[in-house]
Amino acid sequence: MKRLRSLLQKKITAGTLRELTWLERLGQGRVKIVGQAAGQECDDFSSNDYLALTEHPMVIAESRRFLELLGAGAGAARLMSGNLELHRRLEEEIACLKGKEAGLIFGSGYLANIGVIPALVGRNDAIFTDRLNHASIYDGCRLAGASVIRFRHNDPDHLEALLAQKRGRFHQALIVVESIYSMDGDRCPLPAIAFLKNRYDCLLMVDEAHATGIFGANGGGIIEEDGVGSQVDIAMGTFGKALGSYGAYVAASRELVHYLINQARSFIYATALPPAVLGASLAALELIRTEPGLRRELHEKVTLFKNCLQAGGFVGDLGPSQIVPVRIGDSRLALEIACLLRAQGIFATAVRPPTVPKGTARLRFSITRHHQRAVLEKTARLLLALL
Ligand SMILES: Cc1ncc(COP(=O)(O)O)c(C=O)c1O
Repeated sequence: MKRLRSLLQKKITAGTLRELTWLERLGQGRVKIVGQAAGQECDDFSSNDYLALTEHPMVIAESRRFLELLGAGAGAARLMSGNLELHRRLEEEIACLKGKEAGLIFGSGYLANIGVIPALVGRNDAIFTDRLNHASIYDGCRLAGASVIRFRHNDPDHLEALLAQKRGRFHQALIVVESIYSMDGDRCPLPAIAFLKNRYDCLLMVDEAHATGIFGANGGGIIEEDGVGSQVDIAMGTFGKALGSYGAYVAASRELVHYLINQARSFIYATALPPAVLGASLAALELIRTEPGLRRELHEKVTLFKNCLQAGGFVGDLGPSQIVPVRIGDSRLALEIACLLRAQGIFATAVRPPTVPKGTARLRFSITRHHQRAVLEKTARLLLALL
């Protein structure tokens, strides 16, 4: 216990202690803070519900319909008796969205990444991973037991240098990237990465957690927008962000999905997602397919927010996506600014190490369809006054 206490104390001193903030959801992107600073109502800039689908009437209705029809839980893992027709329908929809032969649902994005990566590569293999990849990808790499080779963030030249130097030493090689990075909001140069995957005979896995539903003519993500789908071996993503539900998926060839059903331990040994969650995801996918106006509206709001910041004198890169990082550097200062914003009705998370590299603490503004013009303008103004 002494060691744990001293570790927590170190975190307090460094301004990196993690604490839960209790919230009540008021709807339409508003939250009320419960506990410390109790009663403060805020506009939520921390949610990944980018398209505001968690509250969409169709998503709620489909979720409720399947809850009442099929019960609260799936009752077992997919390979036992938890395999429902609904899983098949959702997997077909996801395969179609991603332009792949087949899909496979996982309990969450974390479970997908820690299950798929170790299924694909092992001891005599290598994983080439972007330095800023999500923790779930890192944990998947660790579990795989393969050699993990990190390349500089979004730097295909560095990746190529490492491939040229090291690829020959390994049997199988996997390149893993995110298409939109979760904490930086920037975009992977996927065509260049796909070129290298072919040149050096690697598998390519792309985590589209923050791109699916938002980018691409049909909401198929950056792999659709960049036209590289056929070169991506495994497209992974979650239902818990723009799709407003919960769970995750991979889309791949029929053969690869069949292989994962046999080898991905987080798929095999976990209870299947429940009907209400599957119903919500199915409805969300239908909305993505039939209502492109949803993502158009989001992109307009993102542009408005960035324009307000820039017009007010903000200098610095705000990135190309709905995730807008405002870099502060020092963890304590980032926390302080987040607190001051909260007192003025704006809830934005201060993201600090080890979630992001040392010295790069930031406020992460996540724009959603809920945010109205006046809220975006006010938020930009208040933020600029604190920087
Ligand atoms: C890039 C990325 N991959 C995977 C995950 C994990 O997904 P989930 O929240 O569904 O476990 C996240 C979640 O934050 C993420 O940002």
